[in-house]
Amino acid sequence: MAGVTNAPFRLVARECGAGRLTSEEIDARALVRDNARTVALTAYLPEERPLAMQLLGEDPDLLAEAARRLETAGADGIDLNMGCPVAKVVAKGQGAALMRDPLRAAVIFRTLRKAVAGAFTIKIRGGWDDRTVNAPEIARLAESEGVDGVTVHPRTRSQQYTGRAPWDVIADVVDAVRIPVVGNGDVSSVDDARAMVAATGCASVMIGRGALGRPWIFRGVDVPRDARATIIRRHCALIEAHLPERAALVQLKKHLAWYSDGLPFAARSRPAIFAARTPAEVADLFWRLW
Ligand SMILES: Cc1cc2nc3c(=O)[nH]c(=O)nc-3n(C[C@H](O)[C@H](O)[C@H](O)COP(=O)(O)O)c2cc1C
Repeated sequence: MAGVTNAPFRLVARECGAGRLTSEEIDARALVRDNARTVALTAYLPEERPLAMQLLGEDPDLLAEAARRLETAGADGIDLNMGCPVAKVVAKGQGAALMRDPLRAAVIFRTLRKAVAGAFTIKIRGGWDDRTVNAPEIARLAESEGVDGVTVHPRTRSQQYTGRAPWDVIADVVDAVRIPVVGNGDVSSVDDARAMVAATGCASVMIGRGALGRPWIFRGVDVPRDARATIIRRHCALIEAHLPERAALVQLKKHLAWYSDGLPFAARSRPAIFAARTPAEVADLFWRLW
């Protein structure tokens, strides 16, 4: 998740039991141009591996060059983003726009398949809108071009993040291909994950928003309060140790606000957390709530 799944968060998720980890989306063009902020997104900690890195782009050759760079930098797999719904992104033909351009998607699959030595996977949406739900066709196309696996967030681009994720579309993709299908969308508990596997036959489950403020979801069991506090302290320490000062402050605010979700007085304290000027100030506000 952009702005969220950086190295500290991913490592905490791994330590809680998450299986396959994926980076934030990385703009292929900006990476090839050595944009410093984009290159910073490729940073990872050795203990995170195996780690996939996700590319965003529409130009097959640029995507291939970016994939080679990421593999050289240590990515164990390359994932192609075909789901980002952001207007600026789809206007460039990237992200979810690829769902309505199968010809371009096919060329990208072929070019990336040749460029990527490790696992090459894609992340798709159900389709562009409810009249063009084509996830099974795109998945079949990907399989025929040698893609190793597909993650399905079954909402369409038009749905963005609204309404319930239509899991039946995941089941349709499972029926359409033999490569592993990862189900995604609205999983916020172990019971949800089991229900998704039972309803769709997917090989595994990807959790996004359900892990925000609750990385212990990957433990798969109830985690007592003191163990949660240990995980939060570990996360804060990793943020401070591995991110540049400004980024660290932003990440501490975001994640401690998520960790405070549901605590008494959390909503009232949120403006103070976001106004804080130092990591110590943010931590102090949070632990007073905890
Ligand atoms: C803040 C935010 C950032 C996201 N960034 C990405 C991204 O970079 N790449 C991607 O494939 N999906 C991204 N997503 C989508 C999620 O991976 C996921 O498909 C979606 O949130 C549905 O799953 P969930 O219900 O488990 O959150 C993002 C979602 C959110 C809320």
